[in-house]
Amino acid sequence: MNEELRKKLGVNENEPNDWFETLYSESNDSGNGVPWANMAPHPIFKEWIDQSSPLENEKTALVVGCGLGDDAIELEAKGFNVTAFDVSESAIALCKKRFPTSKVEFITADLIEGISDWCQKFDLVLEIFTIQALPPKYEQVLIKNIADFVSDNGQLILITEVQSEKRTYENGPPWLLNEDYIKSFEINGLKRISTSTSKETEMGEEIHLSIFGR
Ligand SMILES: C[S@@+](CC[C@H](N)C(=O)[O-])C[C@H]1O[C@@H](n2cnc3c(N)ncnc32)[C@H](O)[C@@H]1O
Repeated sequence: MNEELRKKLGVNENEPNDWFETLYSESNDSGNGVPWANMAPHPIFKEWIDQSSPLENEKTALVVGCGLGDDAIELEAKGFNVTAFDVSESAIALCKKRFPTSKVEFITADLIEGISDWCQKFDLVLEIFTIQALPPKYEQVLIKNIADFVSDNGQLILITEVQSEKRTYENGPPWLLNEDYIKSFEINGLKRISTSTSKETEMGEEIHLSIFGR
């Protein structure tokens, strides 16, 4: 089943970014054919940000793997100065087309390579479903690079699906995380503040919203 899906999507473990560009280049500003495109902020993130206190000062936010940009626009609406990046040039072009008057800086960049200019630069870093979109062999580098973005008093908001089994290439995509991700962020200098289990998916997996600080 997963092998069929990998074939259909054109997933290659050693060129893990390529199929995203294919998918977005065949899509449009309605998100046709993009399975995760809500065309709205992620509901779990939206609920969290709506309950968070308003900002007192100007703060910066970074959206990792921003897809079609709705979460970045939500952060802008809440008063953040937002940078949002995705590895797919076509996804970034669609963000700019969908939100032409937004001040969000939409940028093409690769999380696997990392972006050294953004080291400890952001007050809030948001990651939704990006780690699990890449094969398990990249997990440690992705976690290190995400942790590096968080400023001294900053926070990481991470939304991810979690399963209890070991992650294997054969079982994805998506390659759901297991609870080990918490330890990995802590090894990379962040401290977990909280984890809430927001709901279960149809397959019975949990969705975590975890907050980390430095
Ligand atoms: C499952 S989608 C989630 C998108 C968005 N966060 C959301 O919740 O709708 C994963 C996203 O990560 C992006 N992505 C995959 N590999 C990446 C990489 N190496 N660097 C940056 N973005 C990447 C994909 O293009 C895609 O938009």
